[in-house]
Amino acid sequence: MKYGFFDDNNKEYVITTPKTPLPWINYLGCTDFFSLISNTCGGYTFYKDAKLLRMTRYRYNDTTLDTNGKYFYIKDGDTIWNPGWQPTKTPLDSYECRHGIGYSKFTGVKNDVEAALVTFVPIGDPVELTKVTLTNKGTAKKDIQLFSYVEWCLWNADDDMKNYQRNLSIGEVEVVDSTIYHKTEYRERRNHYAVYSVNAKIDGFETSRDEFRGAYNGPDKPDAVIEGKLHNTIASGWYPIASHQLNVSLAPGESKTFVFALGYVENAEDDKWEKPGIINKKKANELLAKYQTEADFDEAFEKLNAYWNDLLSKFHIESKDEHVNRMVNIWNQYQCMVTFNMSRSASYYETGIGRGMGFRDSCQDLLGFVHLIPDRARERIIDIASTQFQDGSAYHQYQPLTKKGNSDIGSGFNDDPLWLIAGTSAYIRETGDTSILKEMVPYDNDMSVATTLMEHLKRSFDYIVNHKGPHDLPLIGRADWNDCLNLNCFSEHPGESFQCFGPSEGPVAESVFIAGMFVKYGREYAALAKLMGDTAEEARVLAEVEKMTAAIEKDGWDGDWFVRAYDAYSHKVGSKECDEGQIYIEPQGMCVMAGVGIEDGNAKKALDSVKEKLDTKYGVMILQPAYTRYHLELGEITSYPPGYKENAGIFCHNNPWISIAETCIGRGDRAFEVYKKTCPSYIEDISEIHRTEPYVYSQMVAGADAKFHGEAKNSWLTGTAAWTFTNISQYILGIYPTLEGLSVNPCTPAEFGDFNVTRVYRGVTYNIQIKNPNKVQKGVASLTVDGKEVVGNIIPFDGSKKTVNVVAEMK
Ligand code: BGC
Repeated sequence: MKYGFFDDNNKEYVITTPKTPLPWINYLGCTDFFSLISNTCGGYTFYKDAKLLRMTRYRYNDTTLDTNGKYFYIKDGDTIWNPGWQPTKTPLDSYECRHGIGYSKFTGVKNDVEAALVTFVPIGDPVELTKVTLTNKGTAKKDIQLFSYVEWCLWNADDDMKNYQRNLSIGEVEVVDSTIYHKTEYRERRNHYAVYSVNAKIDGFETSRDEFRGAYNGPDKPDAVIEGKLHNTIASGWYPIASHQLNVSLAPGESKTFVFALGYVENAEDDKWEKPGIINKKKANELLAKYQTEADFDEAFEKLNAYWNDLLSKFHIESKDEHVNRMVNIWNQYQCMVTFNMSRSASYYETGIGRGMGFRDSCQDLLGFVHLIPDRARERIIDIASTQFQDGSAYHQYQPLTKKGNSDIGSGFNDDPLWLIAGTSAYIRETGDTSILKEMVPYDNDMSVATTLMEHLKRSFDYIVNHKGPHDLPLIGRADWNDCLNLNCFSEHPGESFQCFGPSEGPVAESVFIAGMFVKYGREYAALAKLMGDTAEEARVLAEVEKMTAAIEKDGWDGDWFVRAYDAYSHKVGSKECDEGQIYIEPQGMCVMAGVGIEDGNAKKALDSVKEKLDTKYGVMILQPAYTRYHLELGEITSYPPGYKENAGIFCHNNPWISIAETCIGRGDRAFEVYKKTCPSYIEDISEIHRTEPYVYSQMVAGADAKFHGEAKNSWLTGTAAWTFTNISQYILGIYPTLEGLSVNPCTPAEFGDFNVTRVYRGVTYNIQIKNPNKVQKGVASLTVDGKEVVGNIIPFDGSKKTVNVVAEMK
């Protein structure tokens, strides 16, 4: 069942009922100022950091889903309604929400009044703009009232939820004309405040929530709106809000438009006050002055659309498969950008007060956005590497505002260092910019011990070389990619963190997954060393890679698939010998991607085992059989009920690894089958089962053992976005950036047909036609570049050209 449809021409998903199975959200903002917005106008806003600079309040775990947002109420006689349906939930005569790229639109109609909202964050300014157009669709005059509503968060979203003994006394606002200023804590250590304004003379305002709602009402029945009159309250403590009242008369057919602006303003320390107790509003007024008219709004909206159109044009496919076209050209790339901005911080499943930026997560996200914003990817790599320790290990997370490592969680996740190589290699393959390797980068943000980035990569690699266990496989530490496989934790008491409890490292527990990573990214590091002229390092690294490959072949192979790990007793995890959790997806994907087992046929065996043991109609499960009881020696993974999350859920993140691995052995049909199973557009029809947004990937879909098999959770902020884009663009469609230039080597289903890709690479636009007359799954017979035949798969890079036309024929 569907709850809307894709409008590809406008790059929108159109939701036709507010009653979606879960809130279906979108993100506004491109750089520092962001909002989450649901299909019923729920959500919240923050500046740079969802925890520390939260502007509006959101409620988690509330009795109705999706409580609090930026709402508009319309009072038309005795009827009070919202264009996005919530919070009054007054039935609408018609409703539509269009989530677009960086904006959302809502149209609600009730009793002949149409309210159309368009909301977005303009490029370059810390402000969210909403245009509200009210139209009288009837034949009689309408006298209605429009009320805006936001509830301020007292900045630190964590403290805001907990510290009432202080917080209920500190709320402060100012109001001048149509602008409400939220200045809590500005009197002391903050140099910022928020504004909410409208470009028209108002008929009243409210800044006290109790006055607006009444002490015992929710936002669904605000007293002041029912009364039809705001009371011009100036909040002092308690719960400051911002609400404007506009009395609007509409002749039949008439429309009136208002532009609302919700902004963030920072002042220099010595420029904070206009006079004692009165904030300096100069910058706020300058900001608001830019968006006073509908024309200002429309111009900024066009700029936003131009910005996104330009970004998304960097990779464009035309094929006969509308799902692939839509996901590749629009939604998958868009989601990659959202993961760049949010990492794992703020979504409807990540509270914005928990995790900041993950080290491994951010490195992997980079794989999906590096072609879109290479400059910012460069900066991101330096930020991430700056949280590395001198021995090559790394903080597992860091805060986006301070860019400092998060010591609550610390280090000890032994896959982390290798992801830095993955991200840096992707950046250099994309841009050719080797100067980044010579950048001086601190350790633990201490510039006095800085070395080149290349040295950071060396220490990443050597961290694994120096941390091997009894089978010469890498020690796992607190966990590897699978945060929940905690082989050194042995936690027996609730409340202990599986990740942080116990020793950060044991001398025995080893990871075959990290071994696979070491082979794959070790080779990429070796290639960088060669590129930099360090052939001795290249040779040393390749020798270590060979040793690791041998260790995998010897002790990492279980007969029909790769072993997952060895636990603290040196017992196998993910093996036929186990009673539960006999086969895991991760080492099958990673080892085959690394090339292990391709020559001797083990790769094929492993992938056949994946198909036989882990496949479902909704995707490939992470392991089987599910753990039915808590295994002290395995940790969090066994704490989940069977079928959920890391315990036999369909973890979408590593489905593309299997798909890529299939392309490595040339099976295009199967690679694409795996791609399709979790691809949002392909499963739009089962939205009532899948439940999360049909335009983006979710982290997890419940596996076959779960009560709700097929139900997704944790949409938006997942490495699935980057890995899927990598899979479809670089492996299935086969346009892969190498250090020398773009390579063309598709691996598609036999029936996929011919397709064209436009790819902007190092400033050159490549128009690539791929022809598959013989319906093969892999293999390029000829490659013609600007009319000349080229030997091999790589288009030689020539930066002097603006456009290059390529024809590849598969054989
Ligand atoms: C984390 C990843 C981790 C994955 C699997 C996600 O929630 O963000 O870092 O690799 O779970 O455990």
